[in-house]
Amino acid sequence: MQALARTALLAAAAVGLAALTGCSPPTPAKTPPQTRQITQADFGCMRELMPVGRFYVGNLAGNLEETVRVAQSATGGTFPAGSVVQLVPTEVMIKREAGFSAATNDWEFFELDVSPRGSAIRRRGHVDVVNRFGGNCLECHAKAGKQWDMICSTDHGCDPIPLTDDMIRALQKTDPRCPPATLTDAESEALNSLLQFTAPPPAEP
Ligand code: HEC
Repeated sequence: MQALARTALLAAAAVGLAALTGCSPPTPAKTPPQTRQITQADFGCMRELMPVGRFYVGNLAGNLEETVRVAQSATGGTFPAGSVVQLVPTEVMIKREAGFSAATNDWEFFELDVSPRGSAIRRRGHVDVVNRFGGNCLECHAKAGKQWDMICSTDHGCDPIPLTDDMIRALQKTDPRCPPATLTDAESEALNSLLQFTAPPPAEP
């Protein structure tokens, strides 16, 4: 939460500065996504990303503005390269360079192991990535209407997942890579019922 507030403050300060000086804030040196390796170091506390509705977004190529614009659009759109989207700590979609994978609209799917020490990439790729419950990311996300660029949310045409709002908030608040956050009673209850039926299988050798 604090980190998020800090990021928001910094962003606001940058905008204010640009307005005062009449010039745009310096563009960060962009590594083209084509040559950019994505490693476990690119993942961290998910709440440091930008909240948009139910999920969080970021952009590894310095184009957060366009990522947020598409994520907030009521009519959809195509996410720019570098876009990072997360609903829960362990599952991430990153928009890769054009040509990465036509079948996934150039999204790369990641399944992570997360701990207070950081993130480890358990699985990554395009058409054949499955989450720890055996579900294939693409199979579900491909059901989103074409204009939504495979983002499911709650009303884009995907089959719903059995997570309540409280469960989602509880998972976001208990990301072990983040500073501790306080759960509401309803979120604690939701987390307990979730833990009862989702003990993860042991990691693969
Ligand atoms: C059983 C179907 C299913 C599987 C398998 C699945 N997802 Fe999702 N995913 C969904 C649905 C439905 C939502 C929207 C849930 C909501 O907002 O309540 C979602 C949400 C997300 C979001 C937030 C953006 C959005 O689409 O709303 C990301 C990111 C995501 N999933 C990544 C993944 C990754 C990565 C994998 C594989 C490791 C995966 N998902 C596997 C159905 C699935």
